[in-house]
Amino acid sequence: MNYKIAVLPGDGIGPEVMGQGVQVLQEVGSLYGFGVELEEGIVGGSSIDAHGKPLTDPVLKLVKQSDAVLLGAMGGPKWDGLDYSIRPERALLALRQELGLFANLRPVKLFSALASASTLKKEAVEGTDLLVVRELTGGIYFGEPKGVTQLPDGTERGVNTEVYTTPEIERIAHVAFQAALKRRKKVTSVDKANVLEVTELWRKVVTRIHKDEGYAAVQLEHMLVDNCAMQLIRNPKQFDVVVTTNMFGDILSDEAAMLTGSIGMLPSASLGGRVGMYEPVHGSAPDITGQDKANPLATLLSVAMMLRHSLDQGIAADRIEMAVEDVLNQGYRTADIQEKGCRLVGCKEMGQLVRDRINLLKG
Ligand SMILES: NC(=O)c1ccc[n+]([C@@H]2O[C@H](COP(=O)([O-])OP(=O)(O)OC[C@H]3O[C@@H](n4cnc5c(N)ncnc54)[C@H](O)[C@@H]3O)[C@@H](O)[C@H]2O)c1
Repeated sequence: MNYKIAVLPGDGIGPEVMGQGVQVLQEVGSLYGFGVELEEGIVGGSSIDAHGKPLTDPVLKLVKQSDAVLLGAMGGPKWDGLDYSIRPERALLALRQELGLFANLRPVKLFSALASASTLKKEAVEGTDLLVVRELTGGIYFGEPKGVTQLPDGTERGVNTEVYTTPEIERIAHVAFQAALKRRKKVTSVDKANVLEVTELWRKVVTRIHKDEGYAAVQLEHMLVDNCAMQLIRNPKQFDVVVTTNMFGDILSDEAAMLTGSIGMLPSASLGGRVGMYEPVHGSAPDITGQDKANPLATLLSVAMMLRHSLDQGIAADRIEMAVEDVLNQGYRTADIQEKGCRLVGCKEMGQLVRDRINLLKG
C-alpha cells in the first residue's frame, strides 16, 4: 500500500513540529509495511511571501489529489496588518471549505503522567477523556453579511453573521452520535439557545436527530455555552462527546486543551469529504519559533489520527499513541509541560524519543 500525503508545514513552529510528524510517519510506514509519498505545499504567511496569497491553486490541486493532508500552523505577527481577505488564516478556512471538512474532531485526553502538568488541580483533571466535535464550515466564521463599513457620522460598523441551516446541523449531529456510540454513549450539545435563535434551531434539530434516527442508546443533554465553559474546568469527567458550533467549539476546545497540560498536546482531525485534514490544535506560536522549544506531540498524535481515520492503519496509530504515553511516563518533557524532576527536551529530541520507542514497541 502506498499513500499520497500532502504536507503543509505553514508558518512559525509549523515546520518544526511537522518535521517530527513526517519522520514518525515514515518510521511507522517502514515498520508496518506501507509507503508514504509526501508532497510539500506552501501555505499561509509563507505563501503570501512567495506568491502574494495564502493559498494557491497548485496547493489546492495537491490536497485534492491526496489521500490525506497534514497541516502545521499558519499565521504570525508579520502578516497581522494585512486585510482579512488575504490573511494567512484565510487559507485554513478555504482548505476546510474546499475539502468539505464540516466536522472537526478534537480528542481531549489527559495522559496520566501529565496529571500534575495542568494549571488545574490534579483531582479535577485526572481521568479526563472527552471529544469535542466542532462544526467547521458554517456559523459565524463564514456567515454573510460580514465586514466593516463606514457610517455617515464617521464611525464604523462591524458585522459577522451566525447562520446554520437544518442540513448543516443534522450532519454534525450524526457525527457526534456516531462517535458517542463508539465511546461512553453520551452527547452534550452546547448552544446559546436562551439568547440566539440560530442555536434554538441547533437544539431543536439535534433533539430530533437523537429521537428519530436510532440513537436511543446515546444519552443526550443540552448545555448553554457559558455553563459549559465553567463545567469544563469544574468537572471535565462529566463529558464524553461535546458537539457545538464553529465558534463555540473553537473557544471551548482551547479551554479544554488546558486540561491536558498544554495546547501542544492536542491533535485534531477535520473530516467530511473524501480527503481528511489533520493538524495540531495550536497555532504558529511566534513566541517560541525557531528555538527548538515547540512540543511536537500534538502533531505526532495528529499523524496517529490520520493513520486511523484516513489510511486504515489503526495498529500503526496505536503504536504512536503508546510510544507518546511511554515517553511521558519515562519523564521526558518539552518546556510547555515541564515539571520538577522531569527531563527537559526540545522538539527534535522529543520526536527522536518517540521514534525510538515506536521501534522498541515493534520489536
Ligand atoms: N490552526 C492554525 O493554524 C492556527 C490556530 C490558532 C492560531 N493560529 C495563528 O497562530 C498565531 C499565534 O496565535 P496564538 O499565539 O494566539 O496561539 P498559539 O497556539 O500559536 O500560541 C498560544 C500559546 O501556546 C504556546 N504553544 C502553542 N503551541 C505550542 C507547542 N506546540 N508547544 C509549546 N507551546 C505551544 C505558544 O508558545 C503560546 O504561548 C496567530 O497568527 C494565529 O492567528 C493559527
